[in-house]
Amino acid sequence: MKTTDKVLFFDTTLRDGEQCPGASMNLRQKLEVARQLEKLGIDVIEAGFPCISDGDFDAVYQIAETVKTCKIAGLARCVENDIRRCAEAVAPAGDRARIHTFLATSPLHREFKLKKSKAEIIAMAVEGVKLAASLVKDVEFSAEDASRTELDYLAEVVEAVIDAGATTVNIPDTVGFTTPDEYYNIIDYLKKNVPNVDKAILSVHCHNDIGLACANSLAAIRAGARQVEGTINGIGERAGNAAIEEIAMALATRPEVLGFEKGVKPYNLITQEIVKTSRVVARMSGLQVQRSKAIVGENAFAHSSGIHQHGILAKRETYEVIDPAEVGWGETELPLTKHSGRAAVKARLEKLGYTLSNEEVVAVFERFKKIGDRKKFVYDDDLASLVNDSLDSDAGKWKLVNLQFFAGNQGQPTATVTMDKDGRIYTDCAIGNGPVNACFKAIDRISKSKGTLTDYSVRATSIGQDSLGEASVMVKFSSCPDEKPVQGKGSATDVIEASARAYLNAVNRHIAISDQK
Ligand code: KIV
Ligand code: ZN
Repeated sequence: MKTTDKVLFFDTTLRDGEQCPGASMNLRQKLEVARQLEKLGIDVIEAGFPCISDGDFDAVYQIAETVKTCKIAGLARCVENDIRRCAEAVAPAGDRARIHTFLATSPLHREFKLKKSKAEIIAMAVEGVKLAASLVKDVEFSAEDASRTELDYLAEVVEAVIDAGATTVNIPDTVGFTTPDEYYNIIDYLKKNVPNVDKAILSVHCHNDIGLACANSLAAIRAGARQVEGTINGIGERAGNAAIEEIAMALATRPEVLGFEKGVKPYNLITQEIVKTSRVVARMSGLQVQRSKAIVGENAFAHSSGIHQHGILAKRETYEVIDPAEVGWGETELPLTKHSGRAAVKARLEKLGYTLSNEEVVAVFERFKKIGDRKKFVYDDDLASLVNDSLDSDAGKWKLVNLQFFAGNQGQPTATVTMDKDGRIYTDCAIGNGPVNACFKAIDRISKSKGTLTDYSVRATSIGQDSLGEASVMVKFSSCPDEKPVQGKGSATDVIEASARAYLNAVNRHIAISDQK
């Protein structure tokens, strides 16, 4: 029988997504993503893992204060300290606060990671859930590595945590191991064999290690799961998480084969916000979307072959299963120019999905004016790149004041850099094997850091030879050998300046991370 009930969307871009190497976002950037997730109509935002660091705690707390309609979840291991700290972090969300606690249940994890018996795991899960339920009304329990757990034991765990007060029970495919039929059977088995299953919502959480995250999520929904977890653009650990936009559009396009009534959109999402959300996440996380990515990639609705173009012109549905407008691909607006005033820039920023304070608009506008003097048109992607630079600078201590370099195919490339820290001006110069290398060395000398570049790229943010160059670096700092490489981004009409800004951004992020420890 087809149903009209809804699937809840649980977004973990700010937690599992942020665990992706190179994706770290500062507090300001996380708030920007959370606001856009709210506009998208996400039901539950997992805002972070409060016990992991003070930075994560602050982010969850401030998101819980800022977002007004979504439930706000924080992640916690199934131990008292984590759960209590999580409760404090989500408290500003009031009735919308959720504690999401997890404990592994599979034989591999029981034996090698936790060194606990089946009975001990159940006792620990029950104790954790009871504690969480005494602190908030809404408790989610995740049986980590559920898809590799014995089915009868998984059913016992699910029954016990529901009795203990879990309102949602998540069955994660933690290592992206399962297949659609197998996952369908797991959810179907739980639905049929857990006596109190109707007292909680069954949730699914898929990783994409063998490219099946979206297919597995849909199979689980077909079997009766009513919460689905994922991230925007599918970012996440290793090969990523299930992409929310893909699951949403599969449900919108084929409801009748997924167990829902035809013509009914079985969720609360506002699909027209999808592309904007994808852009905001890409910008804020620094992770570019692959061009051919379903729904949100640049090429997702581009038809290059003549036969396809002809078909589309005759009738769109010949080669398109989704109307691009339905996910927010719209007419591109006219680019801004140096004559555009602050109000026009502010209005465009709002259209692009950014909610900036007056000071932030002023900072973006100042850079916009400088860029406008150097290039004829400032495109939306140029503007978004400037926003990212401005939002990132609040984490920083060092600011770039001036940069001069000498380079050519002969002679020794040199760079002279002037930077500001707390109102004091510092200048130094360095030589390198090229102007970029010389700039990085001069920045190292002034900031007394020693970075090793592990990745570097430059791309144009828009069309035309006068486009902004956006540089992206990954830097490992010798003062913290255990720290993962830190990402930095910067943009300017000159790619050497963009590179210097990116490197300085990484230095500032590294300082902010070290300060939090
Ligand atoms: O992949 C996983 O199992 C998780 C849990 C914490 C839900 O991310
Ligand atoms: Zn996960």
